[in-house]
Amino acid sequence: MDGENHYLKCIGCGCEYEPDEVLYLCPTCGDLLAVEYREFPKPSNLKEAWRRRDRTVWRYRELLPIRKDTPIITLGEGGTTLNRCPRLGRLVGLDRLYVKNEGENPTGSFKDRGMTVGVTRAIELGMERVACASTGNTSASLAAYSSRAGLECLVLIPSGKIAFGKLVQAVIHGARVIQVRGNFDEALRVVRELCNRHPIYLLNSVNPYRLEGQKTIAYEVVEQLGGLVPDRVIVPVGNAGNISAIWKGFRELYEIGLTGELPQMVGIQAEGASPIASSLKRGMETVKFVDEPETVATAIRIGSPVNWKKAVRAVKESRGLMETVSDDEILEAQRLLAQLEGLFVEPASAASVAGLRKLTASGVIDGDELVVCIATGHGLKDPNIVLERFPTPVEVDPDVDSVERILGIKTVRAAR
Ligand code: F0G
Repeated sequence: MDGENHYLKCIGCGCEYEPDEVLYLCPTCGDLLAVEYREFPKPSNLKEAWRRRDRTVWRYRELLPIRKDTPIITLGEGGTTLNRCPRLGRLVGLDRLYVKNEGENPTGSFKDRGMTVGVTRAIELGMERVACASTGNTSASLAAYSSRAGLECLVLIPSGKIAFGKLVQAVIHGARVIQVRGNFDEALRVVRELCNRHPIYLLNSVNPYRLEGQKTIAYEVVEQLGGLVPDRVIVPVGNAGNISAIWKGFRELYEIGLTGELPQMVGIQAEGASPIASSLKRGMETVKFVDEPETVATAIRIGSPVNWKKAVRAVKESRGLMETVSDDEILEAQRLLAQLEGLFVEPASAASVAGLRKLTASGVIDGDELVVCIATGHGLKDPNIVLERFPTPVEVDPDVDSVERILGIKTVRAAR
C-alpha cells in the first residue's frame, strides 16, 4: 500500500511485515505484533502541529498508523480531564495525585481511543464486518464506531456477566449481540477462531492498531502536566492491552526526544482474576492463567490475558510492578473517588485507586511522587453495583415538616 508510515513487528522473533494484509499474530512464530514507525517526525514539528489541533486522539495523527488520505471514523474521543485530586491525595499522603477520567470518552471508556483507530483501519482494509469478544466496554465502543462507519458489528459477551449499561449500548447501536455460555476468555477464543475463518475484522486488543489509539493516553498526560513525566502511572489490568499501550506511548515520547524520563508502570488486577500480578509477585518468568476468574469488577474478570507478554515487558522495562486488590478494596476506592473528588467510575477503574491506597500504605509509593491513576470507564455503566451497596433513599409525604423530621432539624426563622 502507498503512503504507509509503519510496519508490523513481532515482539518475539522480531520478524517484520508490511501492513497490507490482515494480521493479528506473527505468521512465523505466532507471537504478538506491534506497530512500529519507519521514522518519527522532528520533535519541534510535532509540537507545532499538535498545538494547532483540538485535544482528541487525532491531534497525534503523525504517530498513528493511518494514511493521510483516509477518512477517519471519529466521535471526538480523547482529550479527557486530568483531575488533580487533593482530597484523595491527602488521604493517601500524596501531594501530587492525578486521576485521568477516561469515562469522559464518547461511549464512556478508554476503548474509544482504540476503536477510532481500529475501525478506521478496518475501512482502509476494505473490511465490511467487525467483531469482538468483550466484558462490556469494548463491545459498547465497537458497536458505536461501526455504526458511525456503516459496518456490520458482531459482539460476543460472557452470558449474564456484563454490566447492564454496557449491554444496553451494544443493543441500541444495532450490534449483533451473542451471549456465550462461558467466560470472557472462552468468548475471545471463539471470536478469534471465527475471524480466522471468515473475512471479519477482529477488534480485540490482540489487534495492534487498537493499542495505537490507546497509547495517546500517555501523550495527553505529558501535555496536561506541562511536559512533566509522572513518576508512576497506575492502570487496571484485564486483557493487558491498555498498560502495554500506555507504556508504548511514553516510550515513543522518550525516543522522539519530547521527554527525558519514563514513568514506572503499575498494573492492578482484582485478586480473583490476577494471573499476571500473582505470577509476577511469585517471581515467575511466565504467567499462570486463571481458569475461573471472579471479581465484582466485571470489566477485568479475565483469566487468560492475551497481551500478558507485552504487559510483563512494560512492567519490567519501566521497573514498575503489579499488585492485586480485593473486591472490598475496589468498592471502597470507588466510593472514595465519588465522595472525595466527585468522580464516578466503574469498579474496574477504581482498581487503580485501590492499588494506589495499598501501595502508599505499604510505603512502596513515596509521598513526594507524582502519580497518575487511570480511571478507565464511567460509573454509570454499572449502576446495579451501587444500588446493591447503598440504602434506598427514604420516602416522605410532600410537606416540609416531613423533610425536617427526617433531617432532625426545626424551623428557627421563616425565610422571606
Ligand atoms: N478498565 C475497564 C473499564 C475495562 O473495560 C477494561 C477492559 C480494563 C480496565 C482493562 O483493560 O483489557 O486493556 O487490560 N475491558 C475489556 C472489554 C476486556 O471487553 O471491555 P485491558
